[in-house]
Amino acid sequence: MFIPSPSIFLLFALLPLASSIAIPQSILPTGQTVKQDIINIHNAVFELDATVQAYDGSPFPTSLVDGTPVLLGVAKIHEVNRAGFRHALATLPFTVPDSNDVISTVTNTVNKSIPSTTKHLKEKLPAFKEGLLIPVVIASLVLLLSDHDTFSAATFAKVNPGVGEAKIKEGADGVANIHNVIQDAILFYTANAV
Ligand SMILES: *[C@@H]1O[C@H](CO)[C@@H](O)[C@H](O)[C@H]1NC(C)=O
Repeated sequence: MFIPSPSIFLLFALLPLASSIAIPQSILPTGQTVKQDIINIHNAVFELDATVQAYDGSPFPTSLVDGTPVLLGVAKIHEVNRAGFRHALATLPFTVPDSNDVISTVTNTVNKSIPSTTKHLKEKLPAFKEGLLIPVVIASLVLLLSDHDTFSAATFAKVNPGVGEAKIKEGADGVANIHNVIQDAILFYTANAV
């Protein structure tokens, strides 16, 4: 019978300790993780933008099938946003360089793609109306607005004040701008629902 040597037991006893020291450093998200999450949202928004622009509308209930790619696009944004939200909650406060990167990324990506997508979405009102999909569009926007608000609040809580007032204002303006364009699209679809 094989009897493990005491040193093997010692090794196994120490493993959890060693890993609890070593692993968190490598798996904890950072500002760079959150920056990548913002880029992932931007890419998913671009995909949805293309899908929305390609949607020509069709009568209900065919529209449920034709509209499926739009819903899948919304689901994709929701999924990558929630990953970002979890990372923003779990990360330590950002370093100053990471805070700078995160805010610049908002400015250069989602602050451009989201306003352009909501503009195209509004132009597609007749197509979504024909398919009786207006309630679906509104519900999707409400979901994505809540996603945006919670992700940006969690992210802002980790921004290092050392990044400076001007940069913080840039980030806050971008976040507010995105909130407003989504809110505006919700109001537009609600006002034109019938
Ligand atoms: C964000 O986008 C809006 C237009 O939707 C623009 O007015 C604003 O300047 C942008 N923010 C930054 C920091 O570029």
